[in-house]
Amino acid sequence: MRLAGLPRPVRVGARGATVWLAAQGFEVTAMDGAPNAIAKARRLAAARGVTVDFHLADIALWDWEAAPFDAVIGIFIQFAPRAMQDGILDGMKCALRPGGRLLLLLHGFVPRQVGYGTGGPPDPDQMYTEALLRDRVADFKILELRDYDAEIAKGPGHSGRAALVDLVARRPG
Ligand SMILES: C[S@@+](CC[C@H](N)C(=O)[O-])C[C@H]1O[C@@H](n2cnc3c(N)ncnc32)[C@H](O)[C@@H]1O
Repeated sequence: MRLAGLPRPVRVGARGATVWLAAQGFEVTAMDGAPNAIAKARRLAAARGVTVDFHLADIALWDWEAAPFDAVIGIFIQFAPRAMQDGILDGMKCALRPGGRLLLLLHGFVPRQVGYGTGGPPDPDQMYTEALLRDRVADFKILELRDYDAEIAKGPGHSGRAALVDLVARRPG
């Protein structure tokens, strides 16, 4: 996934990527529904000496239209059943200012991941396919859409060969 030249500000899931983006100089707003995830990300940000606007919130209740962003990033949103997933994706899209870039599912899983045993839920309906994403962002310009296998190292139970999908799409405008 190419991140060079990413516009700012950026909204991403809490944790490592959030802090990494802030360290690159991006103005980052991040949300997660778990207090421990936010606390861990806050500690990481403090250790790296970067500032992130963290929010503890349920994504189902997130006000996507509160502020326009230049980019919105979703990383491993695998907890949502299909209808909720569609709502999140619609929210992410409308949070973007026209011409903004949608960076969705940086390293999200595709359904064959279920057989790999290296992380993610057992339900393939919580995964994403290239075809599904192409359909959901039909009104956007797709800059990158790629289904691929790669080694991941995200700790116990989340390491090894994984089946992933990346999408980068730009909102017209
Ligand atoms: C697999 S983790 C990915 C975390 C992070 N994006 C990353 O890549 O390191 C999924 C995250 O989704 C969060 N989550 C689950 N349900 C949520 C909800 N309804 N609202 C907000 N966050 C939620 C969990 O707390 C967890 O931190």
